[in-house]
Amino acid sequence: MDTLKKSTSLIKNLECFKCKKEYAPFERNTYAHCCNQPLIVEYNNGLEFLKEDLLLREKNMWRYAEMLPILDKQNIVSLGEGMTPILSLSNLSRQYDFNNLLVKDESFNPTGSFKARGLSMAVSKAKELNIDKCIMPTAGNAGGALAAYCAKAGIQCTVVMPRHTPSVFKKECQLYGAEVILVDGLINDCAKKVDELKVKEQYFDMSTLKEPYRLEGKKTMGYEIAEQLNWELPDYVIYPAGGGTGLIGIWKAFKEMLNLGWITGPLPKMIAIQSLNCNPIMLCLQDPDNWKKTFSPLPTLANGLAVPYPFGMTMMLQVLKESGGTVFAVSEEDIIEGVLEMAKEEGILAAPEGAAVWKALVHLRQLHVIPSESKVLMINTGSGYKYLENLN
Ligand SMILES: Cc1ncc(COP(=O)(O)O)c(C=O)c1O
Ligand SMILES: [Zn+2]
Repeated sequence: MDTLKKSTSLIKNLECFKCKKEYAPFERNTYAHCCNQPLIVEYNNGLEFLKEDLLLREKNMWRYAEMLPILDKQNIVSLGEGMTPILSLSNLSRQYDFNNLLVKDESFNPTGSFKARGLSMAVSKAKELNIDKCIMPTAGNAGGALAAYCAKAGIQCTVVMPRHTPSVFKKECQLYGAEVILVDGLINDCAKKVDELKVKEQYFDMSTLKEPYRLEGKKTMGYEIAEQLNWELPDYVIYPAGGGTGLIGIWKAFKEMLNLGWITGPLPKMIAIQSLNCNPIMLCLQDPDNWKKTFSPLPTLANGLAVPYPFGMTMMLQVLKESGGTVFAVSEEDIIEGVLEMAKEEGILAAPEGAAVWKALVHLRQLHVIPSESKVLMINTGSGYKYLENLN
């Protein structure tokens, strides 16, 4: 039942992440050109939005409408994203000495990954702003989600993907009616192609954190984690970071909920997981001034983690610092082992990105970074089904 009768968004403005310069919230915006940083959506401190208001609402991410940026609910482009289950990893917990280990399984989303959240939001906002043509570089999952939501919205869509991406990702985009352009290299090479095409062809650029609204979709994971755990947050949230919108978004949600009075601290420690083949956050933390000089990123089975130069790097580092978290990277062997282990022991065919998180957790537990009695929530960001051709 649809219980959202009218626009309830408490959106106030858009703000440069670095210098806080304000940008208009009701017109097309991309990123903060003043500081070459992402734009952040700020809301009026809506103490009139109560937890109890959620009780009768639809079980999808739009239940948090007051803290989302869409002004007219007619513009919402939804395929039923959000409210994914939180499951207990009971078998693996016994083997690896975790007392309270949970997974939020984002593979339940439309198009099989958490990317649905960000792109449902961004496409809804694109519709609200009369955008009719968009483009995006993608490691795979985001492209499929953009293509699906654009199909629903009647927006023309082009995705630019590394040639080595598993074929299902290309095929699904084509089935949703998108144009697929293949590029030799990683997502940063695809981004160069996007920069070239968007000027020539007047596309709106949906790249991670180059438009303000995908982050607002991703943050709903944070709201759901709190609500589903009865407002008792975990001690650790472990997330596979590529461009970083999930990590940044979940943290943003936690801070917004503190302001709303829905939760009290302490907030969870946020841990970002990378692949050793492409671990820019880890390298940047270790040597902020020189890491790029010797960095030679490689593809990884966890395609979504192959983001060598994330636009949101400063924001991710801030989340790790503010939350007292850290970053950890795993090998390709670990990632494959993680997929097999989660499948055999828990019946979950996780995306390699999610499996990377699982194996990282095993290491972090063995290193005593995470005590056994902690309440730990890992995010499986997507389905392993799309990667099967790479998992033999
Ligand atoms: C399954 C999966 N997990 C994690 C990521 C990384 O997400 P983010 O860019 O939000 O850090 C991606 C990105 O493509 C992905 O597809
Ligand atoms: Zn600025």
